[in-house]
Amino acid sequence: MNATNKPILALAPMAGYTDVAFRVMCASFGATETVSEMVSARGLYHEDKKSYRLMEVHPQESGVSIQIFGSEPEIMAQAVEKSINPRNDIAAVDINMGCPVPKIVKNGEGAALMKNEDLALRVVDAVVGASNKPVSVKLRLGWDFDSLNCISLGKKLAQTGISHITLHGRTRSQLYTGHANWDMIAEMVEEVPLPILGNGDITTPQEAVQRLKESKAAGIAIGRGAVGKPWIFKHITDTLEGREPMECNLSFLMEVARKQLQIACESKGEKVGVVQMRKQLLTYVKGLPHASALKQELLAETTMDGVLAVLTQYEDSNISS
Ligand SMILES: Cc1cc2nc3c(=O)[nH]c(=O)nc-3n(C[C@H](O)[C@H](O)[C@H](O)COP(=O)(O)O)c2cc1C
Repeated sequence: MNATNKPILALAPMAGYTDVAFRVMCASFGATETVSEMVSARGLYHEDKKSYRLMEVHPQESGVSIQIFGSEPEIMAQAVEKSINPRNDIAAVDINMGCPVPKIVKNGEGAALMKNEDLALRVVDAVVGASNKPVSVKLRLGWDFDSLNCISLGKKLAQTGISHITLHGRTRSQLYTGHANWDMIAEMVEEVPLPILGNGDITTPQEAVQRLKESKAAGIAIGRGAVGKPWIFKHITDTLEGREPMECNLSFLMEVARKQLQIACESKGEKVGVVQMRKQLLTYVKGLPHASALKQELLAETTMDGVLAVLTQYEDSNISS
């Protein structure tokens, strides 16, 4: 819960997705916290331009957390001091201890930090000590089913001064397979004296409300369930407050998609914005009548105006038909 006793509804960090444009759309529908794509602490330390670009924040945004990954306490601390502390547009720092991909874990980063609790705690102590903003940690249940240490590590993390933990209810070995284990998330809420955001497999407002009720978590973080439907946050608030979820007709959907594309192009430049928005646009239109023809048309366009025209034309012909 936040200060108003409402649950925290966070957009979970997703590399390749939670850029400025997607975060702005989610926040506009009531996501109370949004998290950037993961950024290499080493990249920031070495002033790598690509890493800095991932920290772009839109003037309309507030409550943005920058997620960093790494395993070297001193480098992490210096990266935060140098690149995050001076920024008033960044609200918080999140430390990645959940990324399962081989190129990250082979360096002892991401979920691999959960295997080395001592190092994990040194990383967190260093970042908390360096940061002038709240610091949070994102965990999985553990490395694999033989090492489910989120609760023991969580209890130690509670002594470090972090603000909260986001817990993805899978192990590293599961990657994204199987189901998130919400019983373990509930156990974490019970055992660890910190606000816990439960995360994993929430795709509908009903699931969100049920997970919040059953786990008693301070909030939830939603990743894939918000792609192509950032209004899920509004639908969750509506459901929590006993209202019918806001209606989303075709014009509304197209308007949101167009807005996200425009912000993406403003922030990244047209060429990159159009290409990077493609996978999200395809999710917006998934399930619409004649979606496969529409998808082909969208993929053929290379300019923002071209994509906007395809969306508008589809809307006009499907509203009047
Ligand atoms: C494409 C993709 C990219 C992701 N990137 C990150 C990341 O950069 N940092 C992170 O902590 N988790 C990352 N995750 C994990 C999500 O934050 C989240 O924990 C996971 O998707 C489960 O939640 P969901 O079922 O709501 O998507 C990523 C997940 C996906 C699908």
